[in-house]
Amino acid sequence: MFAVFGNPIAHSRSPQIHQAFAVQEGRKLIYERRLVSLDDFAKTAREFFATGGTGANVTVPFKHEAFRLADVLTARAEAAKAVNTLFWRDGHLLGDNTDGIGLVRAIEELLSFSLHNKHILLLGAGGAARGVILPLLQQQPASLMIANRSVDKAQILAQEHAVNWCELTQIEPHYDVIINATSGSLHGLELPVPSIVLARAQLVYDMMYAQKLTPFLLQAQAAGCTKLADGLGMLVAQAAASYELWHGFRPDIRAVSRQIREEMEQS
Ligand code: ATR
Repeated sequence: MFAVFGNPIAHSRSPQIHQAFAVQEGRKLIYERRLVSLDDFAKTAREFFATGGTGANVTVPFKHEAFRLADVLTARAEAAKAVNTLFWRDGHLLGDNTDGIGLVRAIEELLSFSLHNKHILLLGAGGAARGVILPLLQQQPASLMIANRSVDKAQILAQEHAVNWCELTQIEPHYDVIINATSGSLHGLELPVPSIVLARAQLVYDMMYAQKLTPFLLQAQAAGCTKLADGLGMLVAQAAASYELWHGFRPDIRAVSRQIREEMEQS
């Protein structure tokens, strides 16, 4: 039995995505949405695993609590200080974080864009940004720069990973890839990033996704960038990494991304 825990959870696409992977593999899968009260995560998760649960995805706002709950952590969960995948295995609760590898696979496999030797600009210094830094660095980019509205948060995150930081409004225009890990698009906002920075990028990626272009992707398009992508591919690829951990089967993320995009456009 598998589930995704969150609050809110009604709009989670994880059940559709995991069922699509299960169809590829020919597996019969039980994967449910679980709405968890804000102060009840640890108890609900423990009950789930005590009553036959094998694996769970964890989404907002419980990723840090899942990190604290896990008995054993993968290196990428440790670096992210957050867990989006729990796995009951050999009497231990393993905590993993597949967000970063999901982002990397979405960019490298779905967009056929290699991050190796590229200059990467990561916008934001909150949980979403922290969650992807280690897997991005593992691709051996030429550089990784963190830019954030609040300088203190950018500084702390950059120091932890031995990378550089700058203010959002002071970015130099020489990045190949720009990844938006701020919650700006979620709030329908553009970011105070200079247009020239967006114009010079080969790829602008927004970790948020929507039926239409997100506000940040619209901003990048208006600045003249032509290669734009939203976070739907990342959503599917992070789910695929969880699925592979649980079932030992590597799903085809391209087919499922296409399917979920079509379903989203029809809804
Ligand atoms: P998440 O877990 O989604 O990363 P978070 O930890 O609250 O959420 O972090 C949100 C990020 O989006 C932060 O980097 C935040 O910048 P600050 O550190 O300055 O708060 C950034 N953010 C949110 N709204 C923004 C806006 N309107 N302009 C610029 N940055 C914004």
